[in-house]
Amino acid sequence: MRVIDQTRLPFEFEILDLVTVADAARAIRTMVVRGAPLIGATGAYGMALAAREDASAAHLQHSSALLKATRPTAVDLARGVDRMRGALLAVAPASRREVAFREAAAVSDDYVDQCQRIGRHGMEIIRQLAPMRHRVNILTHCNAGWLATVDWGTALSPVYRAHDAGIALHVWVDETRPRNQGASLTAFELAAHGVPHTVIADNLGGHLMQRGNVDMVIVGADRVTAAGDVCNKVGTYLKALAAHDNGIPFYAAMPVSTIDWSIEVGAEIPIEERSAEELTHMTGSTADGRLETIRVIPRDSPALNLGFDVTPARLITALITEHGMCAANHAAMRDTCAGPRPANP
Ligand code: MRU
Repeated sequence: MRVIDQTRLPFEFEILDLVTVADAARAIRTMVVRGAPLIGATGAYGMALAAREDASAAHLQHSSALLKATRPTAVDLARGVDRMRGALLAVAPASRREVAFREAAAVSDDYVDQCQRIGRHGMEIIRQLAPMRHRVNILTHCNAGWLATVDWGTALSPVYRAHDAGIALHVWVDETRPRNQGASLTAFELAAHGVPHTVIADNLGGHLMQRGNVDMVIVGADRVTAAGDVCNKVGTYLKALAAHDNGIPFYAAMPVSTIDWSIEVGAEIPIEERSAEELTHMTGSTADGRLETIRVIPRDSPALNLGFDVTPARLITALITEHGMCAANHAAMRDTCAGPRPANP
């Protein structure tokens, strides 16, 4: 399995080989790969690597627990791993290696297909805003582009589609402290695709909204509850509050596999706590091109690094899925765009 090392972007583009299930688990835990669908696909390939090492049921059970424990919030990781475990345990041990890589490729390809369809549905929102504006200003948080999803992206897929269709647009890119997925990854993606964009400090969004500089907000999601609450990168909730206060539409884009039907309200979602070092230190490129990490917070100050927050359904204009758009509530999600429900993880 070959992955882009996202911890080195945007300064170095390095491809890593993941050979064992332990390699896959480490890549997810350290965020070499990140983003809900991408960790789902990496979890699936991790199970294929596990089956290649030892196709016994015991090793597959152990590997599935190892992979699922790496990151708790995004439900797609558990879904990818469980889909693989189910497919592998359903066939004889002698066939498992072959089935494993085929099934992992299917998990990965499904995300590409879903994200492409999310782009088609989401583009219509941007198209409708375009005639009233010189350019459509879209604010996004974190990275929900092709780096996060195998291809296309969730939140960025409609942006790419609209840009490619010739619609004039511009993206406000939240830097997304502490890991800076916006500044490092979304900016990298948009620049590579030629999409006009500006990186902003996380706290500027509200001010830009008050001044009429934001036409819509679109974000991805790591887990959506059955009631339509959206868990996404920490800071998303504050953007939704500001958008609501300013009458700006706020959309979350995700494949339906991100809906966790077993959880009704957002408070039940496990929120990942990561090392405080991600907050106390920052990594960047020196003038001579070396990657260097420096401390930015006093040595004696404790820091709290929670990775996600929950935006209540009432602040969300609509969800954009591969089946189309729907309101963020149980009935609309079920009737309009849920499609066949995947089993709970
Ligand atoms: O901690 P990360 O970088 O994995 O968090 C990613 C996000 O919060 C994304 O917005 C989310 O996974 C949706 S990605 C398509």
